[in-house]
Amino acid sequence: VAATAAAVAVVVAAAVIEVKDLPRLGVGCGFRPPFRSELLLDPSAVDFLEITADHYLDAGPAKQRELEALARHFVLIPHGLRLSLGSAEGIDEAYLRSLARLIETVDPPFWSEHIAYTRAGGFEIGHLTPLPWTHEAVEVLRRNVFRVRQIIDRPLILENITYDFVPPNAEMNEADFLNEVLEATDTGLLLDVTNVFCNSRNHGFDPLDFLDRLRLDRLVQIHFVGVEELNGRFVDSHARPTGPEIFNLIDALAERTPIRAATLERDEELPRFAELRPELERARAAVARSWS
Ligand SMILES: [Fe+2]
Repeated sequence: VAATAAAVAVVVAAAVIEVKDLPRLGVGCGFRPPFRSELLLDPSAVDFLEITADHYLDAGPAKQRELEALARHFVLIPHGLRLSLGSAEGIDEAYLRSLARLIETVDPPFWSEHIAYTRAGGFEIGHLTPLPWTHEAVEVLRRNVFRVRQIIDRPLILENITYDFVPPNAEMNEADFLNEVLEATDTGLLLDVTNVFCNSRNHGFDPLDFLDRLRLDRLVQIHFVGVEELNGRFVDSHARPTGPEIFNLIDALAERTPIRAATLERDEELPRFAELRPELERARAAVARSWS
């Protein structure tokens, strides 16, 4: 038993996050198939690509070939959607094994998931659902991340999501919750700046105060994309070009801490890739400043 415990400790220690040891990747975008030919014609347009892990789990031959072609030209960062780290019932082991196989194939410097749940009582909810900001939720995340680390020996970073209403029975504010989660799970932070902006406008707080409360020494990566206002609410529809309100927030973050990777997360109403270049360049300037 002692030998097994020691072996587990070694595995866990290997995956513990040391933000300072992670590479500075630069600026990339979420890979979407319509961008494929433009990206492969000029791979220097991005420093890395984020791939949606779920699109390649147990992939058929066509997706497999796509993944191999991308891996030949780009650093790939897998971004998971359905691991459901916040599920009190624990991790779906079959899903975890598929994810582990993908991450082993891709061999990324780190990978990411969300501070959320997508499954409850065996039922797939179909979207990222916010957790209550409670110590119990932190403990669920700690347990689940511990299990994941036994199978996936690669640094994990966790992303903040948007919420339509402040979860009831909160024992702390959102920033303190995120800090506690990062500490308890020993993960890095993937800060979705657009989500911070949407939440700040929809729930009436100052996004700069929020940045000042966060444990930014754990920041590894950011997500950014434009916002959309629908019926008086800001939504992260991933369908709009990044505007000045988001770049201002990225600049404010860059003044506070180095940013290792920045991903433009455009999913909907995709333009030609060439049209995203000014946004990537604008982010590149902020990322470079964050290191000066
Ligand atoms: Fe995001």
